[in-house]
Amino acid sequence: MLELNELTRRFGGKTAVDCVTLNAPQGQMVGIIGRSGAGKSTLLRMINRLQEPTSGSIQFSGVEVSALRGEALRNWQRDCAMIFQQFNLVPRLDVLTNVMLGRLNHRPTMLSLLNIFSRDERIHAIAALERLGIEQTALQTAGTLSGGQQQRVAIARALMQNPKMVLADEPIASLDPLNAKIVMDALRDINEREGITVITNLHTLDTARNYCERIVGMAAGRVVFDGKPSELTAAAVKEIYGTDKDGAGIDETMTSTSINMPVPATAQASVGLQPVALVGL
Ligand SMILES: Nc1ncnc2c1ncn2[C@@H]1O[C@H](COP(=O)(O)OP(=O)(O)OP(=O)(O)O)[C@@H](O)[C@H]1O
Ligand SMILES: [Mg+2]
Repeated sequence: MLELNELTRRFGGKTAVDCVTLNAPQGQMVGIIGRSGAGKSTLLRMINRLQEPTSGSIQFSGVEVSALRGEALRNWQRDCAMIFQQFNLVPRLDVLTNVMLGRLNHRPTMLSLLNIFSRDERIHAIAALERLGIEQTALQTAGTLSGGQQQRVAIARALMQNPKMVLADEPIASLDPLNAKIVMDALRDINEREGITVITNLHTLDTARNYCERIVGMAAGRVVFDGKPSELTAAAVKEIYGTDKDGAGIDETMTSTSINMPVPATAQASVGLQPVALVGL
């Protein structure tokens, strides 16, 4: 069980995450939605301790995560693997090595620095790639893969950490619809088969509805919705996304082709999967 209690993060005068209290039982698939700047990334980054909270607490199975230091902190960061929009692979290394880098926190630094991996680690890495259907890319340089393939490599690398939780920050925002589906299916699969908690920031409402059993809506750093997809009514959507700059309400029938909806280039690729693209409002 992950428990966030009155978690707050300020940057100067700006409160990015404002007193968030949230519990996530092990094995849940949670989608976090909200307009740009709502605090979604900051929240995930605090859970992983990439960013320190200003106040409040993060507990996992009763352990105070925000107090962990040294090896205990590294173990925690291994337990909650992060997936990023931009994949964060080492582009000049081959895919297999990238996946094995997921073992970094399991092994002595010297061996890691020299990229020396055991036979077991190689077998484990190939199995992870097979699981994601990209074993044929194992010896290819990571930077030459398509975005969808790279994100699957990143998920394979995360699996190598044997995580209890996967924190994905807009994992499909740079992908075309087909690859977005493949990546979301992969996240759902590891959630269902391994019981790994998945918490993912998503900028498209339909993806959250289709894949997540629980949706958390954030606005201005606060949680303004927390419930099942079926409970996410038009009124709740409006509370999360507010109104656009022309004062019009947001509703789910809007599509990315709406001329009043500015959608950044990185988001345009993923809009075909769902009719709504609510990024950057
Ligand atoms: N390192 C930082 N320094 C200063 N301000 C920051 C920093 N990180 C985030 N912020 C601010 O905190 C607020 C929340 O940012 P955050 O990146 O968490 O939002 P988000 O919901 O992930 O947005 P997006 O959908 O655009 O990714 C924003 O106003 C942002 O400008
Ligand atoms: Mg973000």
